[in-house]
Amino acid sequence: MDFYTLMISFFILSGAGIMIYSIRQFRSTIQLLQAFYIRKSKKLSRMITLHLTMMAFFFFGYIGFLFFFLAGADTGIELITALVFFWGAIFVAMGNGIHKGMLSTIQESYKSTVSISIALKEEQEKLLTINRQLLQTEDVTILALAYQAELRDGETGRHVTRAAEYTGIIARQLKKDSTQSSYLTDQYIVDLVKSAPLHDIGKVAIPDQILQKKGPFIPQEFEIMKQHCQYGADIICKAQEKLKFRSFLTIAVQLTLSHHEKWDGSGYPAGLAGKSIPLSARIMALADVYDALRTKRYYKEAFSHETSCQIIREERGRHFDPEIVEAFFAVEKEFERISLEQAD
Ligand SMILES: [Fe+2]
Repeated sequence: MDFYTLMISFFILSGAGIMIYSIRQFRSTIQLLQAFYIRKSKKLSRMITLHLTMMAFFFFGYIGFLFFFLAGADTGIELITALVFFWGAIFVAMGNGIHKGMLSTIQESYKSTVSISIALKEEQEKLLTINRQLLQTEDVTILALAYQAELRDGETGRHVTRAAEYTGIIARQLKKDSTQSSYLTDQYIVDLVKSAPLHDIGKVAIPDQILQKKGPFIPQEFEIMKQHCQYGADIICKAQEKLKFRSFLTIAVQLTLSHHEKWDGSGYPAGLAGKSIPLSARIMALADVYDALRTKRYYKEAFSHETSCQIIREERGRHFDPEIVEAFFAVEKEFERISLEQAD
């Protein structure tokens, strides 16, 4: 075998080796692609298998053609054909290498995206936990403030938690079937229930001899007692001024100021009537009165649930908004359950 034949054979064999190597590389690239993107795509898997088969046919066909061509070709043409085949094989190998590199880069970036999203999820969980803890702290702080006023009044403090539950029950019932349902958003109800314990917070500003008096008020004392609504609203307004956003305190101010207003305009402090009384205060009024009726006071025994219902029915359109009385009678059994479960 002369040097010329040896050189041509070298190019053909090397080219064939590179082609085989390229096919193997192509297969591993496809495996990477399948693992990464298209593991579940049967259609794409079939297309890749078809592509591989056609590549193998092309490869063996090309080799066969090359040998047949070289057998009858002129000197020089043989060398050019072998070189074209050799460089063709190298380009195929380079193309495969580039594709594999691209896929590896994508895979790396995918891995880093996954790790970033895991870190973000953990961060989100932490924020949610902190938010929950802040909300619980807020609730406890509200109750502590409310208890302070209640304990001075000689109450056990359960009045504020029961009254808050009653407001939630009425509000949810009103939301189901009422002209005000669009106003009663979920957030409104949450804010209402959160605010309700604060309705008598203004009592902290009422002198002990009036607040703790075991007997009926004389008119002057009652006038002082009435001021607890305005004091309470002022206390909450002061707190609200510190905030730069709208909070539940807006509702807290409304119901604290107006929870003793009556539907017929005979209440206090402003003598508001009908729907000029904020909805939150109209709901609070019924919740507050029901709890007062069901609780023992120095001047009366605790009324039964039935008697309390009867009094509320009689006050429909006088003390209470008729629509709220309707809502109350739809859920009065829940009121009775809470009054028994959380009795003083
Ligand atoms: Fe009050």
